[in-house]
Amino acid sequence: MAESHQLRCVGCSTGIAGRAAGADFRCTICGQLYEVVYPWSAPTSSPDGRLPNASALRWLWQERRSSNQAIDQSGVWRFRDLLPILDRPADAVTLREGNTPLYDLPRAAASLGLHFLLAKHQGMNPTGSFKDTGMTAALSVAAERGYQWVACASTGNTSAAMAAYAARAGLRSLVLIPEGKIAWGKLSQAMDYGALTVQVKTDFDGCVHLLAEIIRRLPIYLLNSVNPYRLEGQKTPAFELVEQLDWQVPEHLIVPGGNLANGAALGKGFREMVQLGLIPRSPRISVVQAEGANPLYRAMRENGGHELHPVAAETRASAIRIGNPASWRKSVAMLRETGGWCEQANEQEIALAKAEIGAEGIGCEPASAVTLAGLKKFVAQGKIGSEERVVLFLTGHTLKDPEYTIDYHRNTLLRPYELTAASEPELAHHEALRRSPIVLDADADALLRTLDRHMHEARPLSV
Ligand code: F0G
Repeated sequence: MAESHQLRCVGCSTGIAGRAAGADFRCTICGQLYEVVYPWSAPTSSPDGRLPNASALRWLWQERRSSNQAIDQSGVWRFRDLLPILDRPADAVTLREGNTPLYDLPRAAASLGLHFLLAKHQGMNPTGSFKDTGMTAALSVAAERGYQWVACASTGNTSAAMAAYAARAGLRSLVLIPEGKIAWGKLSQAMDYGALTVQVKTDFDGCVHLLAEIIRRLPIYLLNSVNPYRLEGQKTPAFELVEQLDWQVPEHLIVPGGNLANGAALGKGFREMVQLGLIPRSPRISVVQAEGANPLYRAMRENGGHELHPVAAETRASAIRIGNPASWRKSVAMLRETGGWCEQANEQEIALAKAEIGAEGIGCEPASAVTLAGLKKFVAQGKIGSEERVVLFLTGHTLKDPEYTIDYHRNTLLRPYELTAASEPELAHHEALRRSPIVLDADADALLRTLDRHMHEARPLSV
């Protein structure tokens, strides 16, 4: 049977069969990462007629929405025509991931003077993060190829997703996480789904290093985002997004940056849609990092993205506390291709943006909120105008990291030195948004007095 796809090295362009990749998914010639290519998606080829045309695809994807088949209900496998990576797609390991909502953010839009600001909330996936879309793809490959064990190093969300999908498939999973540096929600998920969970006394980058040793010695399938099949699932929210917008393409998409695979995956999704004539162009995809974990931001400023110098990462947005991102070259290529920018946000800016998204009734985890913090900068820099359509990619659910939120509202999160650079309006906005819990005796009068005070207090909408 002809192979449905190949892996192509993004460094030296060498192509290999899907099953020929080594355990670390690195090119044996130049050491760079692979991406999945199909006959119709190689950079030089045009659609070769074997694929349904654009309007047939649109119709088919819409049609599958009313099906009761598991793979049709999945927001990833519904688009399986553009990720033919399985020999038997009907056996895909799915939790009905994807199908995430697109919410408007009217208050944030008003305060920024934007007419169109939406959030694609990937935290509404089955395990509460965007990782599910990639995990259904790569774990299905692992199951189809007969692996018994899968593993990842993680800042928490990948491990939660991997543990859940492995449990569904009846595979064993090994999770390496930095001890004391991941949010409780995520740690609890890995245990709940039955992973062998190892808290390693190092950071994320140290966990990656350690796991590299292990997969060299044992037949364990690596499910970090160096695995190119992960990105095939993670490109599908691009399809879903434009479908939700009636095939209109927004001008901007803003994503958080950690290990830097996700922006690249979405960029691939948009590129393939352009190649197939589904859309005329890609949005500009911009990446925002936490200031304390900003190696890509530095690389783009200092040398245009030619070289990346790892940093010792430190941020409360623990999902993106990554100093040596594996997919930085893919991310730089995506920024160049789509004309996107890279920004950073400090701890105060992240906390404020997270509270603002929460106050819209949506909520997200701190790492997701860097998107709004970055957007404010793009608007202030005059890079994004009021008529342009912006979509923020919210990557994780607010319940992933309740401790952060509680500390914020109790005003024990930020240290005074972190507030020194904040503007007066920002400080006032923190003040207005904070909702510390009130402890009262079980007394109706006391409750009425409290309520009365709050009923007369004006609540400013935005900075
Ligand atoms: N947002 C959240 C909530 C994440 O969990 C991650 C990455 C990112 C953004 C960044 O995405 O790595 O593709 O640039 N979390 C990984 C993990 C590293 O282990 O869960 P990226």
